Amino acid sequence: MDWDDYEDWGQKIARWGAAYHKSLRELPVRSQVSPGQVSQSIPTYAPEEPEDMAQIMADFDQFIMPGMTHWQHPRFFAYFPSNATPPSILADFLSATLSSQGILWQMSPAATELETAMMGWMRDAVGLPPDYSGVIQDSASTATLAAILTMRESVLNWEGNKHGLSGHNRLRVYVSDEAHSSVEKAVWIAGIGSENIVRLPVIGPMRGTDPSALKAAIESDIAAGFTPAGFVGVIGGTGMGACDDLEKLISVAKEFDLYVHVDAAWAGSAMICDEFRYLWCGIAGADSVVLNPHKWLGVQFDLSAHFLKNPADLVRTLAIRPDYLKTFGREGVINYSEWSIPLGRRFRALKLWFLFRCYGLENLRMRIRNHVLWSREIAEQVRHTQGFEITSEPILSLFTFRYAPKGIADLEDLNQRLINAINDDGRIYLTQTTLGDKFVIRFQTGQFETTREDVQTAYSVIVELAKKLA
Ligand SMILES: Cc1ncc(COP(=O)(O)O)c(C=O)c1O
Repeated sequence: MDWDDYEDWGQKIARWGAAYHKSLRELPVRSQVSPGQVSQSIPTYAPEEPEDMAQIMADFDQFIMPGMTHWQHPRFFAYFPSNATPPSILADFLSATLSSQGILWQMSPAATELETAMMGWMRDAVGLPPDYSGVIQDSASTATLAAILTMRESVLNWEGNKHGLSGHNRLRVYVSDEAHSSVEKAVWIAGIGSENIVRLPVIGPMRGTDPSALKAAIESDIAAGFTPAGFVGVIGGTGMGACDDLEKLISVAKEFDLYVHVDAAWAGSAMICDEFRYLWCGIAGADSVVLNPHKWLGVQFDLSAHFLKNPADLVRTLAIRPDYLKTFGREGVINYSEWSIPLGRRFRALKLWFLFRCYGLENLRMRIRNHVLWSREIAEQVRHTQGFEITSEPILSLFTFRYAPKGIADLEDLNQRLINAINDDGRIYLTQTTLGDKFVIRFQTGQFETTREDVQTAYSVIVELAKKLA
């Protein structure tokens, strides 16, 4: 393909994207293909000769698209949202076109300096104190891994990278029972071991970590000869939106000098609205915070904002400076690869710059506020519908419910069948979680094209299909 063809196809694909978005409501939200159906249509070997782009695009439409679940669908109420607003897609197009590596400042000064500026805009927009510095990571999992490595190094007096973990007391990391699986994976990768994760019980309707259980666990670990390394708090857990009481938990953690990382991957974006900030009251005491603008804020995947009170600790943990990566004569510049696990870095800051400028914060706030409002409305309707129960109250735009008509003994089976019926039907898409021993259905609103009518359609579909099952 030459650059004239690229120009032609770039325009065609932009038109394809616009038509796709405009017709999304007509498509089933979840892909309806069966396992293996897509792979059957892909030849076993790569072609030896070039193929025609028109044919490649036709195959994309015919074979690939049916196997896509539509995360941008306005009736996507599953998992968490993955909003790809038009300006962020265009910015990513530019970033792909430039294909720059932002390893060192000198490799693309604009990429580094825009990243610093955007992390400043983001920090201020969510109300974090000005003494936090930010870095863009690819995902929350990576930010959490970087934080766990930092807590490991700081408690080992920066010797873990050099000597490994043998010869030290076993380290301990304290997390809520509602913590995301990425925390456990980070602890594995950091070499601390899943047996050294202390999962703490949660209390109250917000299912926050019990501060007295944190204190008791740390004290008993110290008495048993373990070394407490850090605490990972959660604001907006994946299951039902669990939120820790950060003020109390951080004060316990700091009594023992623990490093504190807070995972606000989903809920963090909502902190651009002043009225939701009570949920992360005490956040200013955290050493490290991650939130995902690629979930709810409208930035095309992937872009995680990782904020640090003392970035020097992170740099001391991750910076590696072989001769070929030294920058001479430019002291004081930021080399973001020293703040990240991968060396090569995409130019992601462009997506935030385009998004903030094309929408403005007030427009973004309005969207998030609507999602919260519409979720609360449907939660009330579900609560007042015979046979249904709300199993956790809305936290921002996420609540859980189940269908529990009288006289049915196996509610797990019934709700599993309900969720299958809903997702096979295709008009909406929902996912499940467990709360204690209950199998429950999650409902979250967060897609940018969703309207109040879409949420109302969801209510009708849920009730219609539940009645059919009963
Ligand atoms: C609370 C929470 N933390 C972390 C993650 C992992 O996010 P990522 O896919 O950016 O690694 C998720 C993903 O949904 C999440 O909900």
